[in-house]
Amino acid sequence: KDLYAPERTNSHGFDLKDPVDVATYEQLRAPFQATQWETGPILAEAAGGEAAEPVHNPADPSDVVGTLRSCSKADVETALRLAKPWAASPNQRAETLKQAADLYETCAGEIFAVLAREAGKTPTDAIAELREAVDFLRYYAAGTSELDAPARGVFSCISPWNFPLAIFTGQIAAALAAGNGVLAKPAEPTGLIAGLAVQLLHRAGVPKTALQLVPGAGSVVGARITASPDVHGICFTGSTATAKSIHRTMIDHCEPTAPLIAETGGLNAMIVDSTALPEQAIKDIVASAFQSAGQRCSALRILYLQDDVADTFLDMLFGAMDELVIGNPWHLSTDVGPIINQAARAGILNHIEKAEASGAVLKRNNAPSTGIFVAPTVIKVGGIADLEEEIFGPVLHVATFKAADLQDVIKDINASGYGLTFGIHSRIDDRVQLLSSEIEAGNIYVNRNQIGAIVGSQPFGGEGLSGTGPKAGGPNYVARFTRPERTISQL
Ligand code: SER
Repeated sequence: KDLYAPERTNSHGFDLKDPVDVATYEQLRAPFQATQWETGPILAEAAGGEAAEPVHNPADPSDVVGTLRSCSKADVETALRLAKPWAASPNQRAETLKQAADLYETCAGEIFAVLAREAGKTPTDAIAELREAVDFLRYYAAGTSELDAPARGVFSCISPWNFPLAIFTGQIAAALAAGNGVLAKPAEPTGLIAGLAVQLLHRAGVPKTALQLVPGAGSVVGARITASPDVHGICFTGSTATAKSIHRTMIDHCEPTAPLIAETGGLNAMIVDSTALPEQAIKDIVASAFQSAGQRCSALRILYLQDDVADTFLDMLFGAMDELVIGNPWHLSTDVGPIINQAARAGILNHIEKAEASGAVLKRNNAPSTGIFVAPTVIKVGGIADLEEEIFGPVLHVATFKAADLQDVIKDINASGYGLTFGIHSRIDDRVQLLSSEIEAGNIYVNRNQIGAIVGSQPFGGEGLSGTGPKAGGPNYVARFTRPERTISQL
């Protein structure tokens, strides 16, 4: 039963096919085209912070977006000392989170601008990101009325740069909805949007002791806020390797029952058979593999095409890729924005260059030469077993299969150990049913793209190496941030 359903209304956002919405979008964002944001530690007491570092726009090195100060070691100790659960009734917490959702919407223009200039978000992605953040706030707020269980205490929330507002806000909103205090550590490349979000949450009425921002390196700030008996749970989204390392640290330092709620990586597959509608399938493959420059944990990494349609589909796919606009995400026409930083780009290019050396690259678009870009690329592989790791960029691997070998493909996909998203394009109902029941993945998408889960209707999260659950944006999520209820029996 979805206890939240009666309360649920997803945010409307902006429709980029509607000229009125487009004009409003541009008008709201325009004043922030050259704004310089400044952020640093936001603690319940004045913080020192390290020296300010400039933040550059990944699409345009000449655009300085602002400055960011990391926490000093002393700041992290101060944050740990001052952190307290949120001493407000469930109803007050819910009202405050809803107020924050309204403030996020009021500040949409500024949020879109930071998302474009700091995180490289295209208009489509920035709009979806704000919608999801607002949905998380309202959805988890609605959940507080069903909670009898007490807060755990203080949560460390460690979030990724690829959804620097939505996942950042979702983790915090869930921990706060349950009455916890939060130490929020944003990913290093996206501290400015995190600073703006925390200011809005404070303005809505979240006390400073209940929400502190602790920006800085994983090796300094992350390591400290995962290794403290004063932290009673950790919510993490990022790589599987980091989740494992956090888990090991917690075992040594945190109370034995402290939960780790982790959403990690994926080697996401899509199977397209010969009954798929070609135009629809190609549109969904392009969106799943290349939207957000492939920098989504849900993104399509390996496409299995049935052998007898493979050549036709690949021709159509390459044609569709030629239409993609790769460039500055400020522009409405841009489909594929930049890669988050030079180190990430170097890793992706290394993978592409190895494939090129072995003659496996089937298609590579052109990318702008200034800014941090990787051109959408298609690489031929034998199957998922050829993928050594998740390549977090616009790189699609393609394999072919014979209908008679479908069970082997299922076995191979499951053997990867990951289980985040999976896509199917087929008009054979029995095949759709077979794949949906046998592929081990948290989110399965049929005859559509496989990105962009919607809060409330598509709770998001994986199995196996892809995460611990419970699913974000689903009815069981907030409860994981509480202690088990006490049972009192009296004679
Ligand atoms: N929730 C995102 C999506 O569904 C990924 O984190 O694309």
